[in-house]
Amino acid sequence: MSDLEDIRSLAVRLAREAGAIQRERYESEFRIQTKSASIDLVTEVDHACEALVIQGIQSQRPHDAILAEEGGGEDTPGAEWRWVVDPLDGTMNFAHGYPRFCVSIGVQQAGRPTVGVVYDPLLDECFVATRGEGAMLNERPIQVSQEGELSQALLATGFAYDVHRSGDDNVDHFAYFVKRARGLRRDGSAALDLCYVAAGRLDGYWELKLHPWDVAAGYLIVEEAGGRISDFKGAPSQGDGRQTVASNGRLHDAMIEGLRH
Ligand code: IPD
Ligand code: CA
Ligand code: CA
Repeated sequence: MSDLEDIRSLAVRLAREAGAIQRERYESEFRIQTKSASIDLVTEVDHACEALVIQGIQSQRPHDAILAEEGGGEDTPGAEWRWVVDPLDGTMNFAHGYPRFCVSIGVQQAGRPTVGVVYDPLLDECFVATRGEGAMLNERPIQVSQEGELSQALLATGFAYDVHRSGDDNVDHFAYFVKRARGLRRDGSAALDLCYVAAGRLDGYWELKLHPWDVAAGYLIVEEAGGRISDFKGAPSQGDGRQTVASNGRLHDAMIEGLRH
């Protein structure tokens, strides 16, 4: 097997195994703590999933770098391959028993997004993209939608954990699009929002102040499904997640226009 095939199958296996932990512990008792703000949560299950993914990478690929949200990885400078892991995306949903969360694993080769895997354990949906080879949902190819009219579009967004105290809070943009789009969702998992754009379930999505682990897999999945990713001005994204616009491409300019307000 090539390095790439090894890495993709390892990423899928680890996403599924971490997802199995989430499925087992969903709606059970678990410890919840706060991080950057009183609404920024982390549970025992986030840590358990992260430990499983990191151990799995380190046992198979000890020289790869790992950036993981809860800080368990080692982001070794100079490594050819780098894993960017959100062990549980949608922690607030998970903590409240709201059934929308996932595992997200992106892998970069020499800094380029190369493999993306997002696994939703409750729906048993596994989104996988490989650079240049397209995006799949449970091994079937997926494509973005064809919608070109904002008035017919279903969009999604999210709000950062500093929303209670920051003026840069996305409320104006929410107001702009809720008045113009057919529908607007806030469903609490950035990685799944991106995958839903890739699968044509959503026509567009935007969010501020995401982090590399939220988007490392999802950006590639959107692009490989024929969609477009940019910052709020339409410039190519740097992959840090600070400004994310994801669309089917046809709606992109209308979204950038709205985000200028
Ligand atoms: C969060 C989710 C949420 C988004 C937040 C993210 P987490 O990730 O993706 O949808 O609005 O900005 O931080 O904390 O559940 O991994
Ligand atoms: Ca996240
Ligand atoms: Ca997380």
